[in-house]
Amino acid sequence: MADLSIKIGHTTFKNPIFVASGTFGYGTDNPELVDVSNIGAIVTKSITLNPREGNPPPRIVETPSGMINSIGLANIGVEKYISELLPIYEVMDTPIIMNIAGSSITEYIDVMKKVEAVSSNIVGYEINISCPNVKEGGMEFGVDCEMTEKLTRELRNFTDRLLIMKLSPNVTDITAIAKSSENGGADAVSAINTVVGMSIDHKTKKSNIYTTYGGLSGPAIKPVGLACVHKVFNAVKIPIIGIGGMVSSHDVIEYILAGSCAVQIGTANYRDPGIAEKILNDLNDYLDEQNLNSITSLIGAVKTYV
Ligand SMILES: Cc1cc2nc3c(=O)[nH]c(=O)nc-3n(C[C@H](O)[C@H](O)[C@H](O)COP(=O)(O)O)c2cc1C
Repeated sequence: MADLSIKIGHTTFKNPIFVASGTFGYGTDNPELVDVSNIGAIVTKSITLNPREGNPPPRIVETPSGMINSIGLANIGVEKYISELLPIYEVMDTPIIMNIAGSSITEYIDVMKKVEAVSSNIVGYEINISCPNVKEGGMEFGVDCEMTEKLTRELRNFTDRLLIMKLSPNVTDITAIAKSSENGGADAVSAINTVVGMSIDHKTKKSNIYTTYGGLSGPAIKPVGLACVHKVFNAVKIPIIGIGGMVSSHDVIEYILAGSCAVQIGTANYRDPGIAEKILNDLNDYLDEQNLNSITSLIGAVKTYV
């Protein structure tokens, strides 16, 4: 059997198949239905300083080959995350990556400081920078190089655990944001978050999403994700965790060929919460068929014409 382990920063994962933030809850739902012990890592849904109700409904709609969501970062807040979830993670053998969101640099720092102040076995943080910086006029952190680098640098001061900046595709040049993350001291970047989208009901003439615009995810965005990963691979030296539209081991291999060292399965979990494990088994079979001992030789190995 091939060696599926991968290393990001100083952390080794048993395999490269992770589940994406917001699509697997806090990783503790339905333990009787899904065995999470084989998953490479669980990225938990975005946590903010205070609990959030999120946006009013409708906040999810199906689209051709995907879905649009506008959940609005509904979450239990960091205090409950610490008191209720960290003890559960302590006895799980799946690595947990905590995703943090905030509306100011201080909020991200406050969340991280609270978690760093207690003992836990979480292996790192993924920072959702697709959030409006309320204090600086509402522009998203992830669209501005300076803000991204500052946020990364500040957070780097407070943790030795993995620091992963999650990139938005809704930018002019994703490589510039990736470089800012690298310059600020991130161990890795993950790409991509959802693509801005809209859905309209032609019969009622109404928007299908309360907030008018939402985040498109699922197979529809796979080509966008692949292009983003490949561009970022050519721009930075830190590892890339590919995200966007994967439903099979073939999709995973494509993301690895584009430059990912690991991947996150997102929307596909809604159809089948056990899909990550199935993809992992198929990936194993693929490597055996190809007589490959490890996946690392495939990272960024896509043959392009130019
Ligand atoms: C319902 C839903 C909720 C999400 N919530 C979060 C979140 O809380 N934080 C975050 O960083 N990304 C969130 N995402 C984005 C996913 O983690 C992922 O980046 C995106 O869906 C693309 O992957 P996919 O096409 O495999 O779903 C969410 C996605 C969906 C569909």
